[in-house]
Amino acid sequence: MKLAKRFSVALAVMNAVLLFAANDKQVQINRIVVNADLGRETISKYIYGHFAEHLGHCIYGGIYVGEDSPIPNTRGIRDDVVEALKEIAPSVVRWPGGCFADTYHWKDGIGPKDDRPSIVNVTWGGVTEDNSFGTHEFLDFCELIGAEPYICANVGSGTVQETAEWVEYVNSNAISPMTELRKKNGREAPWHVKYWAVGNESWGCGGNMTPDYYADLFKRFSTYMHAGRPYRVASGGTDPDFEWTETVLQKTQKFRNLIQGYSFHYYTFCHGWNDKSAATQFNENDWFHTMKNTLVMEERLESHIALMDEYDPENRIGLIADEWGNWFTVEPGTNPGFLYQQNTVRDAVTAALYLNIFNNHARRVKMANIAQFVNVLQAMILTKDDQIVKTPTFYVFKMYKVHHDATLLPIDVTCEDYDFDGMTLPSISASASRDKEGVIHVSLCNIDMHNSRSVEVDLRGTAKLSGSGGEIITAPKENDYNDFGKPEKVNIQKFSSFSVKNNILKVNLPAKSVVTIALKK
Ligand code: AHR
Repeated sequence: MKLAKRFSVALAVMNAVLLFAANDKQVQINRIVVNADLGRETISKYIYGHFAEHLGHCIYGGIYVGEDSPIPNTRGIRDDVVEALKEIAPSVVRWPGGCFADTYHWKDGIGPKDDRPSIVNVTWGGVTEDNSFGTHEFLDFCELIGAEPYICANVGSGTVQETAEWVEYVNSNAISPMTELRKKNGREAPWHVKYWAVGNESWGCGGNMTPDYYADLFKRFSTYMHAGRPYRVASGGTDPDFEWTETVLQKTQKFRNLIQGYSFHYYTFCHGWNDKSAATQFNENDWFHTMKNTLVMEERLESHIALMDEYDPENRIGLIADEWGNWFTVEPGTNPGFLYQQNTVRDAVTAALYLNIFNNHARRVKMANIAQFVNVLQAMILTKDDQIVKTPTFYVFKMYKVHHDATLLPIDVTCEDYDFDGMTLPSISASASRDKEGVIHVSLCNIDMHNSRSVEVDLRGTAKLSGSGGEIITAPKENDYNDFGKPEKVNIQKFSSFSVKNNILKVNLPAKSVVTIALKK
């Protein structure tokens, strides 16, 4: 009897030890440290930027329908799209391309609409571009949604004078032919556009240049862009062309006044450019590789940052990730040149991965622009005639608004792997910041398609915090999406599966989810 009792006590102790060890193991495995006292960098709100190209139905039909359209509009710009976009507080919009930018002659898009020439959009579908959406309409759109404009100048097929005049037309207050022209076209005051790209993908659709040739051209164009002290962004090379980056940085080293930003593009192509997979019809192998190729972006970004640190140790030149996102095959039956794709939980999860990476590299990354705003690639909004759909990616941008211009809190993540078919990836991605009111926001993303994770977040270097609310984006199926005329399947829901005690935040993070938790003193 005595022996049995002793044995059962020993068993109970052993169980307790095992339980503790198991919990401890889990804690050890999925453990995040947020260093709340080490915040130095600001997460620029421009990391939450967008891109609107004359491509498919991004501009025409998506943003702009013209004043005579039965779809409610303000000076031709869709009211429903403007109202929806305001929800995500878009900080900056890049326009008119992309590849289109290096075929675009801005004077075609000003003045009375009947006098504007129709041209062929040779890059995207060979469709007629009637130039009814030009400089005035774009800047009007930016004012309506409260975003800063970012204009991409034509270096590929344009002239230095054309770009110099565009900057003058948009930004100058002096008496000059361009400012007179602007006033004649109905705009008295300059718009003061700060951000200007000097060409786009000049290694490819922007002129098939060598890095040497482009670096010289960049300096030439940039020299004559005067009015409004523009922030000039040099075109980056094709991924992963570090020689291009090195050449441009090296050749502009003695001309630091001419270069403020360096552009970087990265797309997730699932299995590669020739095997992109469909946006809504995919299996776990496609899911896994989409995550894997998104995570590769961090290595690329860090390699670029290392080069920039070498050539620009003062950290004066911003890394501008002005095209990023998922590029899948177009929806069946749509024009292949229009790049129209649906958007699922998979897009929400990769958007969070990208944004966490940009947040965590905020020292160098000063802007990022997801491709694209409406109806193209990983869009915020899809439109069909007079209907609109807010995509899962839209909701990630809405959830992550809390990080705009907040102080980045350095973070360390130790986590279990996401295993698939003998391959592994880290299952959790995270970023954290403190806003101007002192509220700390921790964003977490579990890329595992099937398994939840128990996560422990150690909030170091701060007074006692308590949880003040949580939000989640997920859905029952990995390929759930929001469709026209149907109730939304993927949006932001309240999340309460967490607790905070002694500055340890414990979270039960569901599979394929994005979560943000607010913590207050
Ligand atoms: O976003 C679509 C295209 O991708 C852009 O026009 C181009 O810059 C990039 O290759």
